Amino acid sequence: MVIKNVNLETVCGITSKLPDHTLPEIAFAGKSNVGKSSLINALMNRKALARTSAKPGKTQTINFYNINEEMYLVDLPGYGYAKVSEQEKAQWGKLIERYLHGSKQLRAVFLLIDIRHDPSANDKMMYDWIVDQGFNPIIIATKLDKLKRSQVQKQVKAIKTGLKLLPGTVVIPFSAETKQGRDEIWNLVDTEFLG
Ligand code: GTP
Ligand code: MG
Repeated sequence: MVIKNVNLETVCGITSKLPDHTLPEIAFAGKSNVGKSSLINALMNRKALARTSAKPGKTQTINFYNINEEMYLVDLPGYGYAKVSEQEKAQWGKLIERYLHGSKQLRAVFLLIDIRHDPSANDKMMYDWIVDQGFNPIIIATKLDKLKRSQVQKQVKAIKTGLKLLPGTVVIPFSAETKQGRDEIWNLVDTEFLG
């Protein structure tokens, strides 16, 4: 994908109606702070259009980024942030479920996992949930720059076993710092999910 123009077109909170788009959507899910917004910025070649933060819980809405009037990258709010009330967690669940279940344009879901850590129970739940909604998520192992190169294959394997990934599931190591993995992600989107 050659990025010509990008635009944060729609922001949806818990009370919002979800948009009735006609362009394909690609969504990014994962724990708070795993790097969803940073990945979306890297894919769009923007430094800070998607707001990021060192503090978890930054993105609390579903944000739709229009790419070239061709498709949307969809930034989902993160889960697993401890300092959130049970009520907020329940509202988060409803919002994400409404989107994953209801979007007619959603073509693919990427699930982000921090490459330094084994997947959590929440990650496993999210993976199973995405599969239950009929998607076969692609896994992005984030923050690759923070791991010694010699540890990468071992951690990719830990992600595969920890999530009990379906055979053939793609795992792409990625760094928002070095942009390693960016082209592979766009190639996959371009060839598998668009056009
Ligand atoms: P929520 O919106 O809270 O769900 O978080 P998020 O998943 O959108 O994470 P975000 O992109 O805001 O990144 C969280 C923190 O991790 C920020 O301080 C980022 O700079 C940092 N970060 C994200 N990706 C990388 C990466 O590849 N390498 C390094 N070193 N830091 C990263
Ligand atoms: Mg975010």
